[in-house]
Amino acid sequence: MILTKLLRSLAEGLFRGRRLRAQPPAAGAQRFLPKHSAAEMDRTPNFFYPVFWGTDDNNAVTESLESVTKRLTPGYHFADNLLTWGRNLSMFDDAPFVAAWKANAESPSDQAIVWRRYVLACAAYHCMQLEGDFVECGAYTGVGIKTVVDYLGGQAFPKTFWGYDVFEHDDTMLNHAGPEHGKDLYQRVCEKFASYPQIRIMKGRIPQVFADGCPDRIAYLHVDLNQAPAEIASLEYLFDRMVPGGILILDDYEWSGVYREQKLAEDLWFEDRKYRVMPLPTGQGLVIKR
Ligand SMILES: C[S@@+](CC[C@H](N)C(=O)[O-])C[C@H]1O[C@@H](n2cnc3c(N)ncnc32)[C@H](O)[C@@H]1O
Repeated sequence: MILTKLLRSLAEGLFRGRRLRAQPPAAGAQRFLPKHSAAEMDRTPNFFYPVFWGTDDNNAVTESLESVTKRLTPGYHFADNLLTWGRNLSMFDDAPFVAAWKANAESPSDQAIVWRRYVLACAAYHCMQLEGDFVECGAYTGVGIKTVVDYLGGQAFPKTFWGYDVFEHDDTMLNHAGPEHGKDLYQRVCEKFASYPQIRIMKGRIPQVFADGCPDRIAYLHVDLNQAPAEIASLEYLFDRMVPGGILILDDYEWSGVYREQKLAEDLWFEDRKYRVMPLPTGQGLVIKR
């Protein structure tokens, strides 16, 4: 009798396990995943978009790099302080991504950071198939959020995406002001998402604004605040809520100069938790939650 019960509960356990495997979390989200468009063997895209930072003579840098890229094999990229060549530039082979990026880019910076956007899109593709919401700390104009959402179903995007920002700037803030900051930015971003009920635009200062609403489980976390204390505060509040396999992208981690303080603070924070941030050539940092 005891043996029969034991065998039954073992069988039930196995069956439950199989059912779980057959229906992974957020399986319904898979129908919103864009199909990868086939790359052509004999076509290698180039990207030359001379928007960059940290020089006292933009024209001189642009001219010299124009002449340099003429001498390079195809697959060159120059934008967003990243010069490389002989690469596939995979983002331009992914037609649904190109459509989302083009439809949403509003400024020259949005155009230039296409590689960064594709890192976000690929992370989001992965995270769509996990339990948990999406979060961006530092939503600004909402272009980053909307590019990702439009890549993954647009208005039918099946997850809740939380975007936090103050949307205004004042001198007490450590980050630099953006050209779009001001009294009406919050309203403009809300209007941008008027037909996207799953996008929650949260106005307020991090970390205090989290008290107004914050998901318990997070699959995708993009932290882009341009300052160390608020980024560390975001990690303190949100990282433990990330689900295993969830992806964190730190937008400024691998940028030096004024952004270096962020990396130094984040390295210490992650060292205590036995994580290493993967520095990406785009200037971002990537962490996969265990
Ligand atoms: C570089 S922008 C974000 C760009 C955006 N992620 C994108 O992909 O287009 C940085 C934003 O962080 C916001 N920010 C900085 N510190 C903040 C804080 N403590 N609380 C809320 N927002 C903050 C700024 O208002 C600014 O809009």
